[in-house]
Amino acid sequence: MTGWAPIAASDELAGGHIVEALFEGRSLALWRDSAGAAHAWPNRCPHRGVLLSLGTVDGDSLVCRYHGWRFSGADGRCTRIPAHPGLAPPASVRIDALALREAAGLIWCSNDAEAAFIAPEPGILTRPLPFTLGLPSLRGALLGALPGASAVGDIWMRANLPHALGGWPITLLLRRADAQETWLYGLIHATPDADLIALRAGESHWMAAIRRQFGAAP
Ligand code: FES
Repeated sequence: MTGWAPIAASDELAGGHIVEALFEGRSLALWRDSAGAAHAWPNRCPHRGVLLSLGTVDGDSLVCRYHGWRFSGADGRCTRIPAHPGLAPPASVRIDALALREAAGLIWCSNDAEAAFIAPEPGILTRPLPFTLGLPSLRGALLGALPGASAVGDIWMRANLPHALGGWPITLLLRRADAQETWLYGLIHATPDADLIALRAGESHWMAAIRRQFGAAP
């Protein structure tokens, strides 16, 4: 798949932090530099293969936990090798970032930076949910079971919340973590006068019911 897909909620990734995210079967080091820019890198140090998600953020750079090699968020190049402080690291020692954008409260990733990106209409972001189902199976199950559900694309659909939750339209987005795990994100398009406390409480029950119905990850 080469299109854009959400991989995390923006507010899950604070400045100066790194998390691991699965995307299309690949482990990513997802990190935010001190200026607020997010980066999605293959989760493997070019030196000895240690997980970069175990490293630390220093300003606009990620520092590998094992031998301290430092990589610039600007272009992925290694800028410092502590064991050889006088050596300029070769330009070939670098990390190729995945394409990344932020929109509608979500961090989006793509294997193809040129793929067309259409941002969903902003809304109230639901709590992301993992399912132990492949993406096509979960997509089919949701389309068949949710009121007014219609597909907008391979990972994107519109539905309506149950009447008891106000019947608001909801955009549902899917991320294929790997062949057997899919994450579900929702954007509820409620008007500003909606009772947010009641909506949040109802959303939790609704999402729990979806988890029971379609096989949430343990
Ligand atoms: S494994 Fe990352 S610096 Fe050595």
